[in-house]
Amino acid sequence: MTKRKNILVTGGTGFIGSTLTQYLVGQGYHVTVLTRTSQEGRNNLDQIDFVSSLNTIRNSDWYGIVNLAGEPLNKVRWSVRQKEKIINSRVTLTCRINDWIRDLQVPPEILISGSAVGWYGHWDDECLDEDSHNREGFSNELCGAWESAAFEAADLVSRICIIRLGIVLGSHGGSLPAMLLPAKLGLGGPMSNGSQWWSWIHIADTVRSIAMLLKNGQANGVFNLTAPTPVTQKTFATTLGKQLNRSAILPLPGLIIKLMMGEFAEEVLLNGQRVLPKKLLDAGFEFNYPNLPDALSQLL
Ligand SMILES: NC(=O)c1ccc[n+]([C@@H]2O[C@H](COP(=O)([O-])OP(=O)(O)OC[C@H]3O[C@@H](n4cnc5c(N)ncnc54)[C@H](OP(=O)(O)O)[C@@H]3O)[C@@H](O)[C@H]2O)c1
Repeated sequence: MTKRKNILVTGGTGFIGSTLTQYLVGQGYHVTVLTRTSQEGRNNLDQIDFVSSLNTIRNSDWYGIVNLAGEPLNKVRWSVRQKEKIINSRVTLTCRINDWIRDLQVPPEILISGSAVGWYGHWDDECLDEDSHNREGFSNELCGAWESAAFEAADLVSRICIIRLGIVLGSHGGSLPAMLLPAKLGLGGPMSNGSQWWSWIHIADTVRSIAMLLKNGQANGVFNLTAPTPVTQKTFATTLGKQLNRSAILPLPGLIIKLMMGEFAEEVLLNGQRVLPKKLLDAGFEFNYPNLPDALSQLL
């Protein structure tokens, strides 16, 4: 019998991480989750180990690390302090992971570390891929700092993959559940003029693509984790409305959204970028949900 490969996941208790860990266990990996919180009473994850410190797991052989942990972006309104917390939570942990790797007798083959399509900054209709450049703004600052911290492990592991995640759509977490109530009430119309691009990806394709990066020995560098068909926010709202048999006509003025949600709205909801998963497609990845109507229909 072949030995299960060990994978360490940070953020493995979160929306993406918890789906990923289950998927990786199903793919034959042994998964350990680094977490700040006690996992007592979580009996549905009995094939996964939870640890609270890297010091206790120096002796195993590690095949890979998937680094997703970080302070949520939409937990509280962004103040200068909260923005520092959002950045520092990711950078500090990533540096700790690098130090831990440095001390291992046998380094892991691969580090996969999180980022987001916000790295590209705000764009209009231009199609962006992994070769496109960035524009300044808080999302770019955050993702840039997180990516730079991860790239410091370049000499320590054989491969680093940075995953620039789009809006991950799932039924049990992420942005979609929060969009459902307004949409059901017929209030999920275009935000501002709705022309901003939203690059989305179904949660199943998210975890499948991360598993592909772990497995594919050629995979290296930055990968956009987005479906091949980004849509404008207006199209997103209309498509969601159709799935719920509600019209999505009533526009939400940008000013109201900004007043309600502050800078987060400006960065994430009212501006966007049209990002394509060029490197995933070049690597032969096949999306189960390449189109938004099919993705939403499956999730709802
Ligand atoms: N969901 C999306 O659409 C999306 C899009 C682009 C990028 N991303 C990024 O991808 C990562 C995973 O996303 P997600 O939606 O799964 O996030 P999530 O559900 O908020 O989970 C994040 C995990 O990070 C840990 N965490 C939270 N606050 C922390 C802090 N202050 N310091 C250290 N760890 C902390 C938590 O683990 P413990 O409590 O167990 O320690 C939590 O389970 C995040 O970094 C997110 O910004 C997500």
